Amino acid sequence: MKVGVLGSGVVAQVLAGGFIKHGHQVMLGTRDTAKLADWVKQHQGAQAGSFADAAKFGELVVLAVKGTVALEAAKAAGGANLAGKPVMGATNPIADAAPVNGVLKFFTNLDEALMERLQRAFPDAHFVKAFNSVGNAMMINPQYKAGKPTMFICGNNDQAKATVSGICDQFGWDVADMGKVEAARAIEPLCMLWCILGFARNEWTHAFKLLHQQ
Ligand SMILES: NC(=O)c1ccc[n+]([C@@H]2O[C@H](COP(=O)([O-])OP(=O)(O)OC[C@H]3O[C@@H](n4cnc5c(N)ncnc54)[C@H](OP(=O)(O)O)[C@@H]3O)[C@@H](O)[C@H]2O)c1
Repeated sequence: MKVGVLGSGVVAQVLAGGFIKHGHQVMLGTRDTAKLADWVKQHQGAQAGSFADAAKFGELVVLAVKGTVALEAAKAAGGANLAGKPVMGATNPIADAAPVNGVLKFFTNLDEALMERLQRAFPDAHFVKAFNSVGNAMMINPQYKAGKPTMFICGNNDQAKATVSGICDQFGWDVADMGKVEAARAIEPLCMLWCILGFARNEWTHAFKLLHQQ
């Protein structure tokens, strides 16, 4: 698959590396391709371009930018370049304010997730929440004694969720589909819960697992 990854930070680079590892073609999108020159040199099959170039390139688009600028980055990518495509959103709505006792501050509230804002602004794109509540070190084929961890996903479009579920499977995750876009109100704050352990114990390699009785 051709994958356009919007972002140049650690999450964009780790996810892009995972796509390459599993045989996909990748273009990263950034405002400044110079900052990705070394990374592209080190990863055969990777390219870098503008946000719009990467969105246009991808059959699957990944949004991996700072939460406060997610709408801006999606606008730069261009609605027409996102239309009809799965847009896998790892982005969290973390506010530019210090955590309180290790609890991150969000700029959203429990009645409106960041992904709902994005879905409303780009109604023709098929947003799917995924990879937001695990640290980048464990995103690609993590190994845990307890088996595969759970990736909570949600989104309005079933075909887009099937595409993202396939990627989660390749990246070594069990998928728990939590439903439509509103479920992001619950999935995005999992990142707060995940980070509490990090701040409290300096542990950054845990992951969530959903247990069913049967
Ligand atoms: N760090 C983790 O382990 C982790 C885990 C799960 C989810 N997340 C979430 O993943 C997302 C990415 O995290 P990150 O740590 O890799 O990177 P980040 O530092 O949160 O974001 C970097 C990206 O944001 C873009 N950006 C910043 N200001 C911008 C602006 N004004 N307009 C357009 N784009 C702008 C940058 O674009 P340029 O390339 O143009 O500079 C860059 O691509 C975040 O939402 C984070 O909450 C992080």
